[in-house]
Amino acid sequence: MRITAPKPRDAILFLTQNPRMAKIGTRYGMRLGAGRFVAGVTLEDCIAELHALAARGLRTYTIMLGESVASAAEAERVTAAYVDVIDRLGAEASLDNTMSIKLTHIGLLSDRELAYDNAVRVLEAARRAGMFVRLDMEDSRHVDATLDIHGRLLADGLTNTGVVVQAYLHRAPELLAALTEMRANVRIVKGAYLEPASVALPRKEDVDRAYCRLVDAALAGEGFTAIATHDDAMIAHAERTLAGSRAAAEGRYEFQLLYGVRPQLQQALVERGHPVRVCVPFGSDWYVYFGRRLAERPANLWFVVRSMVRR
Ligand code: FDA
Repeated sequence: MRITAPKPRDAILFLTQNPRMAKIGTRYGMRLGAGRFVAGVTLEDCIAELHALAARGLRTYTIMLGESVASAAEAERVTAAYVDVIDRLGAEASLDNTMSIKLTHIGLLSDRELAYDNAVRVLEAARRAGMFVRLDMEDSRHVDATLDIHGRLLADGLTNTGVVVQAYLHRAPELLAALTEMRANVRIVKGAYLEPASVALPRKEDVDRAYCRLVDAALAGEGFTAIATHDDAMIAHAERTLAGSRAAAEGRYEFQLLYGVRPQLQQALVERGHPVRVCVPFGSDWYVYFGRRLAERPANLWFVVRSMVRR
């Protein structure tokens, strides 16, 4: 029998799901480099970074770190915290800043209706503050519930929301087609979770090809497209499709990148005349987020090792 070693990406994602690793990581990680990807533990740290990015011509969106909340009571506490965060961010009138939330942070693991009710509270607060809030896409078990809640929010008139399509999913083209039909606001990503081959494309080349096809399909539609990637080849492809497109002429697109990842690329895109929005996370619950960033580029582990040696 031939045993194949797990890919570094899969091994890191597996470890981030381990509660003991989470405990150790949470104790030391900020000192071991998580600060490169997280704007700070407090909202005020984050707001300072939002202004610094705005001064460089970048739009921003904020995420309060955390996910997979197990109890309804905790989901209630988190929802109240989101409302406070939105009220505070709404006071920063000079910023072009939006938010993203994860439905498992506000109750999806307990009950879909609870997550829906809490999403309504967050979106109503955001609407008062003139803010857009996207529903991030989590692992494949939550895709249908997320799309269902997204559709219900729009039907309820809470149009200040959008969603995400992950190119690695075999179902991605159908999911995007339904969203395009609704003229939804869609972020296209490659996909960040550990998924079986029955659910998601295992090979990077196939995911890259699927990503380009989705970007083309989204830009041909009449909704807003957020092209979220750090990959030069994906960006070059999107730029070719954008040239002369209606989506570009009507300002119905932007590039999105993560805080701390390829900041020179963020700037280069702005200099080439594109709207660029940077995802700026904050909070103490940063461990799983940090693990996903390491998994996307295992070379980032060297950066952790260097931080350990320097201490
Ligand atoms: P790829 O992983 O192929 O990387 C291309 C190049 O970019 C690398 O060679 C490297 O140079 C650089 N790079 C990528 N990641 C890096 C990192 N962490 N550190 C340093 N360099 C890096 N996923 C999901 O499942 N649901 C979601 O809701 C979201 N939301 C989201 C928002 C935004 C704004 C972004 C940019 C990404 C997401 N993702 C996501 C994550 C996404 O699915 C994917 O895991 C990452 O974007 C990495 O894929 P790339 O497209 O960057 O390409």
